[in-house]
Amino acid sequence: MNATVTPLRPMAPAKANATTRPELTPVLSARVTARAAAALDFLRAAVAEFGTEGELAFANSFGAEDMVLTDLILAHGLPITIFSLDTGRLPAETYELIAEVERRYRSKLEIYFPDAGAVETYVRSHGINAFYDSVELRKACCGVRKLEPLRRALAGRKAWITGLRAAQSATRSGLPLREFDDGNGLEKLNPLSDWSEAEVWAYIRIHEVPYNALHDRFYPSIGCAPCTRAIAVGEDVRAGRWWWEDPASKECGLHVRKD
Ligand code: ADX
Ligand code: SF4
Repeated sequence: MNATVTPLRPMAPAKANATTRPELTPVLSARVTARAAAALDFLRAAVAEFGTEGELAFANSFGAEDMVLTDLILAHGLPITIFSLDTGRLPAETYELIAEVERRYRSKLEIYFPDAGAVETYVRSHGINAFYDSVELRKACCGVRKLEPLRRALAGRKAWITGLRAAQSATRSGLPLREFDDGNGLEKLNPLSDWSEAEVWAYIRIHEVPYNALHDRFYPSIGCAPCTRAIAVGEDVRAGRWWWEDPASKECGLHVRKD
């Protein structure tokens, strides 16, 4: 195993982050209400352009941004398929949230799983936690557990929706509201591209949207359990993802951009 890796996750502080979840002032409330109305218009226009259910799909990781989109889609009955990629290594808190969303919105979501044979081959060849050993093996694990299921989830679609925000990382700066996804061969829509983290949390509070319990333990960005840790005060919001790797390589391949 790579000597710099500490698979044990640190004890997580119990309080939410006040800098990214500021007080809900009337000004912030009004701004978020206007932004939510614009996002809803954007989603309705996407439904009009890309057809009905099945051809337009939202990729839901159940992170805070994705819970905003989940609420906008399900509370307004928009005919947009919602799918999620269950890598088999998600934290227990994410599974609890998936179940809560299905209960609260009385809706069944499309969950895609990795190919069992491909996971068996990977694990037998490299080991159960081989993603800590090298960037190549980490990317290979993401390939088997996320990218191949994503290809199946996007097959036959005209456009997909993500919860990406430009401010999440340097690799996402300049993220447009809409772009053609060359890698997957369809349109990609990012309705929250210019939202701030504070606005995301304001929406969640105003609409009492359920969210992943790990967010209250300093996990602003949540992926697979073994590849996500809590961040310290002042650290980048994605510092807890694949924390043992160089920041330049910290994308799993779901979102590859030309520039
Ligand atoms: S990742 O590439 O580092 O894993 P991140 O967790 O920031 O991505 O999520 C960005 C967006 O990718 C989410 O808003 C969601 O649209 C999509 N996404 C990420 N993980 C999943 C997943 N497991 N299932 C479905 N969509 C996902
Ligand atoms: Fe594998 Fe980690 Fe990628 Fe999840 S995030 S698919 S466990 S390498």
